[in-house]
Amino acid sequence: MSRIEEVLRQDVFSRDDIIRLLSAVEAEELEMISQAAGRTLMERCSDKVYLRGLIEFSNICTMDCLYCGLRKSNQKVNRYCLTKKEIVAAAYECAANGLGSIVLQSGERRDASFIDFVTDVVREIKRQTVSEKLSDGLGITLCVGEQSPENYRRFFNAGAHRYLLRIETSHPGLFKKIHPPRQRLESRLRCLEVLKEIGYQVGTGVMIGLPGQTISMLADDILFFRDIDIDMIGMGPYICHPDTPMYKHHQSVDRRRNEIFRRSLLMIAAARLVLKDVNIASTTALQAMDPLGREKGIRFGANVVMPQLTPAGYRGDYLIYPGKPCLNEGNNECRIRFENEMRSLGRAVAIDQWGDPKHFITRTKKTRGNGPASYESLAEQRLNR
Ligand code: 5AD
Repeated sequence: MSRIEEVLRQDVFSRDDIIRLLSAVEAEELEMISQAAGRTLMERCSDKVYLRGLIEFSNICTMDCLYCGLRKSNQKVNRYCLTKKEIVAAAYECAANGLGSIVLQSGERRDASFIDFVTDVVREIKRQTVSEKLSDGLGITLCVGEQSPENYRRFFNAGAHRYLLRIETSHPGLFKKIHPPRQRLESRLRCLEVLKEIGYQVGTGVMIGLPGQTISMLADDILFFRDIDIDMIGMGPYICHPDTPMYKHHQSVDRRRNEIFRRSLLMIAAARLVLKDVNIASTTALQAMDPLGREKGIRFGANVVMPQLTPAGYRGDYLIYPGKPCLNEGNNECRIRFENEMRSLGRAVAIDQWGDPKHFITRTKKTRGNGPASYESLAEQRLNR
């Protein structure tokens, strides 16, 4: 029996096991790992692929991450912020096309008018999308960076029930290298804790292939996701953006392109094998590296896809990294094509559903017992529908 086969026979994985999985190179090993991740997914979640319409509503950012094309020091970006009407219209289009859930993503701002705006938009989307198909309106995930506990609570009370905040790397030294000094890993960790306390379904993730990042750092990222009991994961390959300080590494990153892509798929599989019942996104960055990247992510154990729903005229200005596919994927035709693709992989696309992570339900049951009618019992009913 090969070493990978031996690793895959287990249910609990050590750090060394994870390192072994992430080091796989041979096609045969990759196939075994993807099959094992698929089995865990079927046993612990389902064959469903959940959709989230992605609306990148503003690229204005006050942060200066050294890898990101939208960093505030990049003067070449044409900055925009959609109006409330435009965002609500995009959300409405999602609901009309069977996407039961959306992600509202933007650059990071903490000023009061931004907080008021986001709160207002969330409330309005909720109000306008309650229908026979979606009795509680669209599911709303926010991805607007580090905020105060009070503002996270305001968004939650307005109707957002999931939050994504990537830690980018759980390695303190690497985190410091890719961020300016005022951006701190500790403060992101604190935000993740606060989000969980408020009652959000919480997602995080890392970039894969960062200069200086080793396989053991990636294995530690997986253990970190497990230890903080995260509900959702979004990870993707690091792609060099020419208008950022980290572009100086582009030659070595380009040279490792295949390795970075492979390792991104292996990170999805490892996260599935170790964390089991979380939602894992097959991200746009995978698709930017390979036109079939998104399908490959699904094969390696992901169960969430985020079709682009940002209005077409703005997509080209939301370039976190270059080569981002700017497809129009909101319409019915695209959805049907995607459903067929998924069916050929033995998977079914969930329509008109929030698609909450099983992990959230298990976690909240564990910590709170069978309390009075609460958000989590609602979520459970929805899952069983
Ligand atoms: N390559 C890949 N992903 C990136 N992100 C930011 N810049 C890049 C890049 N150059 C990711 C970060 C961030 C998310 C919105 O996009 O992980 O959290």
